Amino acid sequence: MNEQNHVPTILAVSCQKGGEGKTTSAWHIGAALTQRGYKVCLIDCDPDHHLSFALGWQDDGRTTLTNLVLMAIVMGQFPDAAAISDTIRRHDEGYDYIPCTKKLADANLFLASMPNNETYLRHILRDTTAFADYHYVILDGLPGDNLLQKNVLAAADDLIIPIQPKIMDFSSGTEMMPIVRAVQERSNPNLRIVGSVLTMFDNTTTARDIHTLLKESEDFAALHPFDASISRLKEAGEAPGLHVSCVSREKSKIGQQYQAIADEYLTRKEP
Ligand SMILES: Nc1ncnc2c1ncn2[C@@H]1O[C@H](COP(=O)(O)OP(=O)(O)OP(=O)(O)O)[C@@H](O)[C@H]1O
Ligand SMILES: [Mg+2]
Repeated sequence: MNEQNHVPTILAVSCQKGGEGKTTSAWHIGAALTQRGYKVCLIDCDPDHHLSFALGWQDDGRTTLTNLVLMAIVMGQFPDAAAISDTIRRHDEGYDYIPCTKKLADANLFLASMPNNETYLRHILRDTTAFADYHYVILDGLPGDNLLQKNVLAAADDLIIPIQPKIMDFSSGTEMMPIVRAVQERSNPNLRIVGSVLTMFDNTTTARDIHTLLKESEDFAALHPFDASISRLKEAGEAPGLHVSCVSREKSKIGQQYQAIADEYLTRKEP
């Protein structure tokens, strides 16, 4: 860890298909990086706010990402560092997070008629000192090809794409590429695809074949699949209800696998 560099890396975990493991991956990679001594802030960018639920957030009347984004779009008022800090909560596992509410979905409606409508989140997260003490700000993306999703990609330095190794789903990784390329061309040329993570890997022949295909075929080179993959296991599905990640659970296989993903991410960042 470079202690001198306190500008956080913004990592988006995103994929345009629903249910691929975005929220689980963003959360668990964040928890694993926290265990490695990095200071992490997770941000729930999906109006379905599954990450907020998983982290045990309950609406306490305090501001959330929804307020920051809608104020910027509707009123043209970008939040100062104090307003952003007011939205940050602490989780018992040691990382911080910013929740959102269902109303964040309104951003997609309002953004449609705005100029420069991909870069609101980028300005909120990057033109501030509010994250100066963090090493990683991790964005839990939302499904679909929509403006909020593009805002997530435009705000990030790095992108990890979770993909289920099923015939119907794995094409979603390639379908994500035109969306990523368009954002790179228009608003974020430095966005780096770190790689794809195979989630809910059930060790069938199809899953193994897809992992091999992703790793070996030139056609999928841009997706840079991680060596480690994540098994389909009940404990991952139970974690949101317990509000504690598998990374904190002793002998958790999912926890260990996400630790391997976090290590591989660090290696890919700093070879
Ligand atoms: N490795 C796993 N094994 C079993 N279940 C999993 C695993 N990873 C995630 N799940 C479960 O699968 C469902 C989808 O996962 P998750 O919410 O992480 O996906 P998502 O891509 O964020 O979905 P959405 O597009 O709805 O935001 C959730 O119920 C989650 O708990
Ligand atoms: Mg999700």
